[in-house]
Amino acid sequence: MKVLIVGSGGREHAIAWKIAQSDKVDKIYCAPGNAGIAEYAECIDIKAMELEKLADFAQENEIDLTVIGMDDPLVAGVVDVFEARGLRVFGPRKNAAIIEGSKAFSKDLMKKYNIPTAAYETFDSADAAIAYLETADFPIVLKADGLALGKGVLICNTLEEAKEGVKTIMLDKQFGAAGDKLVIEEFMTGREVSVLAFCDGTRIKPMTSAQDHKRAKDGDQGLNTGGMGTFSPSPFYTKEVDEFCEKYIYQATMDAMKKEGRDFVGVLFCGLMLTPKGPKVLEYNARFGDPETQVVLPRMKNDIVEVFEACIDGKLNEIDLQFEDNAAVCVVLASDGYPEHYEKGFPIEGLETFKGKDGYYVFHAGTKAVDGKVVTNGGRVLGVTALGTDLKDARKNAYAATEWISFANKYKRNDIGKAIDEA
Ligand code: AMP
Ligand code: GLY
Repeated sequence: MKVLIVGSGGREHAIAWKIAQSDKVDKIYCAPGNAGIAEYAECIDIKAMELEKLADFAQENEIDLTVIGMDDPLVAGVVDVFEARGLRVFGPRKNAAIIEGSKAFSKDLMKKYNIPTAAYETFDSADAAIAYLETADFPIVLKADGLALGKGVLICNTLEEAKEGVKTIMLDKQFGAAGDKLVIEEFMTGREVSVLAFCDGTRIKPMTSAQDHKRAKDGDQGLNTGGMGTFSPSPFYTKEVDEFCEKYIYQATMDAMKKEGRDFVGVLFCGLMLTPKGPKVLEYNARFGDPETQVVLPRMKNDIVEVFEACIDGKLNEIDLQFEDNAAVCVVLASDGYPEHYEKGFPIEGLETFKGKDGYYVFHAGTKAVDGKVVTNGGRVLGVTALGTDLKDARKNAYAATEWISFANKYKRNDIGKAIDEA
């Protein structure tokens, strides 16, 4: 089989690494890819949002399966473009990817089908939003309706902050058209868990759980980022929590989407908050998480290509999803200054240390090869993942492996997996 992957981050590197292990696959391409992905795949110079060009490439090169890693092309309808040409593609169609593309849509869906989530209101005018905030309790959460690179969520402690937030999102349009509508939501407390699940339109099979660390600095301080590190499994995601989520969240979401005529095929990412009143949905994404994928896939036993195909063919019931009884931790090595201003183009040393070391992985995110040398090329540069017999062992291994790598403005959080000590 020939497989094409669309994306260029650490998530896509982990997906490429996992696909490369499938006996079914002879050749992998990645658009646009990065310096690490190039080890498994031929990287091609087409951007993820060049939907027609991607489909042209798949047609011309007789690609058997395309896997979409990123949210933007999914929300823009890349799956519809491929299907219209009779090409096999893994991911939700546009009418299902809206579950990530519009927070107003996903909140209305959860309300209509009684899926547990925070109470909310939706606004399309700043005046109405501010009038509502004047009588609200704080803290409160403001969410731009559309895609905003994970940055469109503001937690506001005071009315002043919230008014400023409404201005940023709705009037200054910091996130562009994503801020045409605003969701204002009840603030929830608890542990956060990410659960990614394979879906075939009817059935849903969750993978093992993970936890992300979204803030830039230790102690969950600083700005929100794409994610600074992850661990898997989450010790807080107990059997009891899983049973509740299977019944009231995962299958309920699949059924709701089906009833709406929006059958969901692909990976549904459920961002959950384990509140004192039980698990509630924080958000849905229509794709694998980044950097959740970097801790989940190294623990997965199945041939991922078989799972992708079962989802597309509506045969997920034939798959017995299995994960190793171990743990994984991923620590992101970023460029100092991320998610704001940072320099790039620095040579990266030590990548070869990972070669041949079982249970240690270095997944590239913002890297590129210049004259045969790998240099930094983004905010999140690398994700260092290590396995361990348990979470503490995995964390020790991952932090040790972060020392094998050096580059000029290397920055990492030092407390990834701190919550493990509280379990
Ligand atoms: P989202 O992009 O919706 O996952 O939001 C980003 C982050 O904001 C989440 O990972 C949470 O840490 C936080 N967040 C979002 N919604 C809420 C909420 N209703 N209550 C508390 N924290 C929230
Ligand atoms: N790690 C969060 C996300 O992928 O959206």
